[in-house]
Amino acid sequence: MKKNILLPGGAGFIGSHVAAELLTRGYDVVIVDDLSNARADVIDRLERITGVRPAFYRIDAADKPALEQVFAENAIDAVIHFAGYKAVGESVAKPVSYYRNNLDTTLTLLETMSDHGVKELIFSSSATVYGVDNPAPYTEDMPRGGCTNPYGWTKAMIEQILQDACVADPALRVVCLRYFNPVGAHESGLIGEMPNGIPNNLMPYITQTAAGIRKELSVFGNDYPTPDGTGVRDFIHVVDLAKGHVAALSYADAHPGWEAINLGTGCGTSVLELVGTFASVNDISVPYRIAPRRSGDLAVCYAATDKARRLLGWQAEKTVADMCRDSWRWQQSSAKL
Ligand code: UFG
Repeated sequence: MKKNILLPGGAGFIGSHVAAELLTRGYDVVIVDDLSNARADVIDRLERITGVRPAFYRIDAADKPALEQVFAENAIDAVIHFAGYKAVGESVAKPVSYYRNNLDTTLTLLETMSDHGVKELIFSSSATVYGVDNPAPYTEDMPRGGCTNPYGWTKAMIEQILQDACVADPALRVVCLRYFNPVGAHESGLIGEMPNGIPNNLMPYITQTAAGIRKELSVFGNDYPTPDGTGVRDFIHVVDLAKGHVAALSYADAHPGWEAINLGTGCGTSVLELVGTFASVNDISVPYRIAPRRSGDLAVCYAATDKARRLLGWQAEKTVADMCRDSWRWQQSSAKL
């Protein structure tokens, strides 16, 4: 049976890759996005990649009458919810706006789903919900909380809201996917991450430095208790991540209740290892200097991956070299946009 999937926030970095994966596999896709952190031509690009044009509504998912209309016009079977603000530093400066936006969007979605009898939801959560008190590798049964910024708390709070909603309605089917560090881009070079202004995240900073847009990368700290002293993260290719969402949809079809599942590779890579791999696979230099630690950063963060393998039959396949090649290809092609 063909399924019709609603993607709030579906024009963004992760949402667009999930849309491409779904369209390629024959799902119908309805994207809702206010384009506050995405571009309208992503819809054209998805059509070029897949040969199918997704339905698109330029609306804020927290606008209830507008969202009502989307549900009224489309027989939605399931929702994959990406809509939300995601800049860690900005969330510290603008906590109220982060709580308002990320929580409102989710609550409006849940109410509208309930009005229309839609029971299946996959939520974009984050490894940030493990906070600072748990040791890596993170397993899904570890306590949530101890987040270091409002962005992280919105993810933890939304997980709690979804858990409570599943208790109240046993027919709900909810999977919270806890992403580790998504990087890379679609191999077509047509979609990828488009950070606004100066990038906060490591990979876009590396690609912009290699392109000469930034003078040098600041490596935040080289005195962590890690093999080379720099932070260790679980970088995951966004196309692997997208495939994890498709697997989560199939899982949720048959499993009422609430689940949290990590989407990571289970492998840690240090900041300097990533810089070194990027430079060598792309044969380009990435000037960097060692800078002080960034406040709120963990030394080490990587996933336990057994649950994803067991429940979803999914595991990441792409290498760090693939991530570096695809990120660089996207940097070069996006410069021409
Ligand atoms: N880093 C640098 N220089 C930079 C940017 C980052 O050295 O210019 C380092 C950081 O100190 C860290 C590593 O690169 O050690 C990764 O940093 P990112 O900002 O790319 O990613 P984070 O791990 O800090 O954050 C990511 C997501 C968040 C999510 C968090 C928790 O961006 O949304 O993982 O899983 F909440």
